Amino acid sequence: MLKINENYQKLQGSYLFSTIAKKVAKYQADNASAKIIRLGIGDVTRPLTPTIIRALHSAVDEMADEKTFRGYAPDLGYDFLRKAICDNDYRARGCDIEDDEIFVSDGAKPDSGNIQEIFSADSKVAVCDPVYPVYVDSNVMAGRAGDFDEATGRYTNLVYLPCSGENGFRPEMPREDVDIIYLCFPNNPTGAALTKDELQQWVDYANSKGSVIIFDAAYEAYISNESVPHSIYECSGAKECAIELHSFSKNAGFTGLRLGYAVVPKDLKRQGVSLHSMWARRHGTKYNGAPYIVQRAGEAVYSPEGKREIQGLVDYYMENAKYIMSGLKEAGYTVYGGVDSPYIWLATPGKMSSWEFFDHLLTKASVVGTPGVGFGSCGEGYFRLTAFGSHESTREAVDRIKNL
Ligand SMILES: Cc1ncc(COP(=O)(O)O)c(C=O)c1O
Repeated sequence: MLKINENYQKLQGSYLFSTIAKKVAKYQADNASAKIIRLGIGDVTRPLTPTIIRALHSAVDEMADEKTFRGYAPDLGYDFLRKAICDNDYRARGCDIEDDEIFVSDGAKPDSGNIQEIFSADSKVAVCDPVYPVYVDSNVMAGRAGDFDEATGRYTNLVYLPCSGENGFRPEMPREDVDIIYLCFPNNPTGAALTKDELQQWVDYANSKGSVIIFDAAYEAYISNESVPHSIYECSGAKECAIELHSFSKNAGFTGLRLGYAVVPKDLKRQGVSLHSMWARRHGTKYNGAPYIVQRAGEAVYSPEGKREIQGLVDYYMENAKYIMSGLKEAGYTVYGGVDSPYIWLATPGKMSSWEFFDHLLTKASVVGTPGVGFGSCGEGYFRLTAFGSHESTREAVDRIKNL
């Protein structure tokens, strides 16, 4: 008899954001006149910039002409984009990464969910708590996480690295040996960032234990502090222990276009096997490449005008972050993040749980945020707001919260 993958039965509830969407839909149905402001989900709101749009149009025109038409894209990405990525994101920063170590993809979510496939099913996995849920759920699906323990709100076989106000939301090294460590800095959801010295300690730890770090750099463009590295490959020895994931979603607004990349260095080997070759094989077998049109748009992100415009988007959102941070501080909230990151992480007031505060904000201010506990048990008592709204709606939301 056919058997399903029973690991899927171990996944908890519905995805966090669908629960939020249901609550918001019910509130709107019950309160038709309420003007809801959404600062919950991490989706961008600014349109694509003129340089990106021009690149898209021109690539569309190429597709209409038999002389310039393109069919299947190369599995690992077009050379023009791999070179632009490598020149700008690595060589310009002094990181010794080569074009053919870049694997172009349709985003950091798919990459962060898929990358675990190249590791053994009995690998020990460490994640931060709170955590971007994809790292956990993809390992649950693969059977690596064990069972869900209702009492602790955690999977029995994962190693959780607690992040709280006490450690500045920067995890300590695992007490037991682990094989795979997921790190995301600047962090979603806490907005915390690691300095180069702090990240170097993780690289040294991974190299001493033979673990692999999966470093999610989706929010790299938001870094403002000079001590915070933009890539893990700024740390020495990282090419022997780290895979880095990038997204064009948060810097350039490609959440709907879909583009990202993974860096798997050729020096990264385990059991004498190159993880670069494994990922190339996996990509070639299961993925047919990001669309030509979108890769041309990605290339335009690295043109001088593209860079200026993209910086404009980041500045726009970070102005929101500043407004949220200062408004909430004025209103007496304890707030974190918001400096090297578009996320503001606040401690819920009084003894309110994350979900109680969610309901409070929704019903009293018609403002939607994300309950911290949705990202892990250490997120209880915290709440996430994003800076991805418009200036107008962000200001109104903050003013409403201040008036509560
Ligand atoms: C940590 C992190 N990684 C990856 C993603 C998704 O990136 P992409 O849109 O490139 O799939 C997100 C989106 O919210 C994220 O927060």
